[in-house]
Parts: sequence; structure tokens; C-alpha cells
Amino acid sequence: METIFSGIQPSGTPTIGNYIGAMKQFIDLQESYTSYFCIVDEHAITVQQEPLKLRQQTKSLAALYLAIGLDPSKAIIFIQSEVSAHAEAGWIVQCNTNLGELERMTQFKDKSAKNNRAGVSAGLLTYPPLMVADIILYQSNLVPVGADQKQHLELTRDFVTRFNSKYGNGNQLLTMPEVKIPESGGRIMSLQDPLKKMSKSDTNKKGFISMLDEPSVIRKKIKSAVTDSSGIIEYDPENKPGISNLLAIYASFTNFSIPELVDRYKDSGYGQFKEELGEAIVSVLEPIQLKHDELINSNELDLILDEGAIKARNVADKTLIKMRNAIGLGRKR
Ligand code: TYM
Repeated sequence: METIFSGIQPSGTPTIGNYIGAMKQFIDLQESYTSYFCIVDEHAITVQQEPLKLRQQTKSLAALYLAIGLDPSKAIIFIQSEVSAHAEAGWIVQCNTNLGELERMTQFKDKSAKNNRAGVSAGLLTYPPLMVADIILYQSNLVPVGADQKQHLELTRDFVTRFNSKYGNGNQLLTMPEVKIPESGGRIMSLQDPLKKMSKSDTNKKGFISMLDEPSVIRKKIKSAVTDSSGIIEYDPENKPGISNLLAIYASFTNFSIPELVDRYKDSGYGQFKEELGEAIVSVLEPIQLKHDELINSNELDLILDEGAIKARNVADKTLIKMRNAIGLGRKR
């Protein structure tokens, strides 16, 4: 069976962008792949986090993984910092990655430009090698993510090519991963500025719907989503980014395709469309929220995470030993 790996940062509560771009894909993929779903808390600390809050968000994300339908009898669910191979492999990757490659990463350019470069953590620059480490440690074949991670996957593939040719002696030491981005919904935009990606760290909370937003808040945020003045429901991301984004969200939360939705609402105004979209989101998120609340402080959740960490360590340590041996670290094992 082939392997998939993906991770989400516990830097806040996931948004419906994270759900549509990444989490929703996980549910089907766990059926046909050996699956690793990670809560990447070491990635979250590239920007300052409040310790208690980080811990709470980490548990909450784990509970959400289960609440959306990830099944611990099929998938391995674990916390990155509980598997020390990630940090160690991350260092090896850093030492085999050029500074120029990291400085070109658009996420680094965006975040460091906003915060002023001298004042950002070095981890913000060296974060992609940690992501490379996450992926290669499980010899992953496929990585389901949103469109914003594409560049990091290209870096991973370049690293695998380089590492194998430099140290492999003709052997494929590390598996070459493929990226998997959903056809529609790979980049869900902010509800307040549809030219900007929806993000859990947006200071304008009206820009995103968190997976734990109350139903009344969800309805309100959809109602106040920015559209345009034409009042015509059609899919045209370039000229009508607001309504096109809402159509992509609607299609992801139901079984309707975008053309079916356009046809269904051809005689309706934005008001009715938004009302029914709000209901569609609530009807999916409400049961997830109830399950999340049941799980968050349960023993069951801790046991699942303990077991996940043990299984992940077993696999990750094997790859790490292979990497250490290949590059001459320590004594041969
Ligand atoms: P993060 O935590 O920012 O986002 C988690 C996942 O959600 C996707 N995503 C979106 N998809 C569609 N529309 C959006 N507006 C949107 N916002 C976020 C992201 O593409 C991602 O798939 N570096 C990663 C986490 C990570 C990882 C990994 C992922 C660390 N190691 C290894 C895959 C494999 C990140 O910051 O995701």
C-alpha cells in the first residue's frame, strides 16, 4: 500500500479553508493509503505562541481530526513534537538545502516582509526543511495539501533528487512524493477580501469561518461576505472573486458541482444563495463540533495520540537511521 502524509499547524483553530483544501481529502484517502496525519506543533512555533494556548489548540486539532471522520484503526494520528526524528531529520535537510532556495519561498517572503526581516525567527526561514523532513521520514508517496503548499512540495522533490543522487549509491534511499491539490477549493479566499487567501491567523475574524464557530456566527459571516453589485451568480474568479469563492465553498460542503449550483441559483439573488450556503456549512460543521467537544478532554483521545506517536516513531526512526548511515553521522548501525 502506498503512503500519504499531511500536517496542519495548531496555530489557531482550522478554518473551512483548511477543511476544504486539506482535511476533507484525508477522509477518503485513509481508505486506500497507509496514512499519517500529523499535528505539526513544531511548525507552529516559528511565530510566537502562548504555551497554554498552543497545547489546547494541539489537542483541539487532534479532536477535530477524529471528529471529521479520521479513523485511528486506519490512520496514524500523532503530534510532531512527540516524534523526535522530525527535528533531527529537519537538521539534516537544512544542511543539504541552499539558503537561496529558502529565501525564494513565497511564504517566507510574505511573512518576513510584513514583520521586518531582522525581527523574525530563524525558524521562519528554515521551516520548509522541517516540512521536507516530515514527508520523507514516512517515505510518503502522496501529500494532500492546499495550493499554498505547492512550492514546499517542489522543494521536497528537489531535496529527494539531490539526496538520493549524492548519497544513494544508485539506491532510492528516499521516496519521491507527489503533491495532491483538490481540483476545486485548493485555495479558499478570505470572505472579506476575496483576493487574499483565507487564513486562521487573519486579524479580521470576519474573513474566515473557523471549524468551531457557532452556527449563528457562521450564518452571520456568510451573510456579510464581500461579493459585488451585479447580483448575478456565476463562476468567474477573475472578475467576480467573491461570489466565485462562495460557489467553491458551497460545492465543497455539498454534493453539487459549481455548474449545478450556478444553474440552481440562476433566478435567485445573493441573499437567498448566502442563506442556503450558511445552512449547508452549519449542517456539516455542527455534528463535527459536537463530536469534537465530546473528544477534546477524553482519555480516548490521549490513548489514540500515544499509540499514533509509537507507530510513527517506529517508521520515522528507520528512515532517520538510513539517512544518518548514508551521510556518515555517528557509527554505522
Ligand atoms: P497550514 O496549517 O497553514 O494549513 C493546513 C492545510 O490547509 C491548507 N490550506 C488551505 N487550503 C485551501 N484554502 C485555504 N485558504 C487554505 N489555507 C490552508 C494548506 O495548504 C495545508 O494543506 N506547512 C503546512 C503544514 C505542514 C505540512 C507538512 C503539510 C507541515 N509539514 C507536511 C503537508 C506535509 C502548513 O503550514 O499548513
